Amino acid sequence: MIGSSIHPGYFQYPEYLALMAREFDVTTAEVVMKWDIIHPEPERFDFSQGDQVIAFAEAHDMRVRGHTLLWGQALPPWVLEASFSREQWMQILCEHIKTVVAHYRGRIFAWDVVNEGMANEGTLWENFWLRAIGPDYIAMAFHWAHEADPQALLFYNEHFAEGMNQKSQAVFALLQGLLEAGVPVHGVGMQMHIWLSGPPSPEDLAANLRRLAELGLIVHITEMDVRLQWSSDSMASRLQRQATAYRDVLSACLQASNCKAIITWSPTDRYSWIPSFTGRPDAPLLYDELGRPKPAYYAILELLQAP
Ligand code: XIL
Repeated sequence: MIGSSIHPGYFQYPEYLALMAREFDVTTAEVVMKWDIIHPEPERFDFSQGDQVIAFAEAHDMRVRGHTLLWGQALPPWVLEASFSREQWMQILCEHIKTVVAHYRGRIFAWDVVNEGMANEGTLWENFWLRAIGPDYIAMAFHWAHEADPQALLFYNEHFAEGMNQKSQAVFALLQGLLEAGVPVHGVGMQMHIWLSGPPSPEDLAANLRRLAELGLIVHITEMDVRLQWSSDSMASRLQRQATAYRDVLSACLQASNCKAIITWSPTDRYSWIPSFTGRPDAPLLYDELGRPKPAYYAILELLQAP
């Protein structure tokens, strides 16, 4: 599966929809299934934008990944400002997960259940849910999601844990523990927000994919983009290095038995979150601002067409 994230905020642009439908067979809701949008008030869920994503995807034979049931970010004020007991937070989280997963049962084939649970040092990220519930929140979230849709593939999604490092080691240990405890987790999402000087080495990525396969876990590359900023090279050379980074990741994925999808975070440079996130212009995707294929596109095309 090759995909892009999608956002209904851009559905007004015909070229956005045309490229999305033409080039990709899987998509992830980039923003609109996060808690602050889908559950803006205690007693109110708003599925309208998520439903737009599903309708577009189904009309174009694309599979949908749900993103995300639980994260330390994108929480609405009613959650951030409330003070409840541990038991009350468990009830709130359970209701949230079950309501959202049940709403999309049978239409979302894979969910990012827990997003970014780990800090770069390899300890659990001190996020809202760790403070409210404690480390068990992770196992609970997977159980509740599984109860609401036993067919859905359930993912732990993480960034900077693609290669072999302290964080990916901690993610591996976490998942091993969850599986030993019988927690229904099926896959790992590797976000793959990378830049020219720091992509995971092909060997490390392959090794990490392999050890996750040994646990029986599948992998999706869930949010790939490759930043060009922080380089003094010419633009032509940066685009070439970007192409190599994309090709290396796809190559590792194709060679791994358990890597089933590669998804970029937006279809074209025009819609990327990176410029607003970093405060600097960038061009991290496979297609330029006008939707024209870049060297990275041709690099992965060549790889896919190789015998
Ligand atoms: C980003 C979106 O792309 C932005 O539009 C939004 O403002 C913030 O979130 N890791 C994730 C994604 O798991 O949900 C984030 O998406 C990017 C980093």
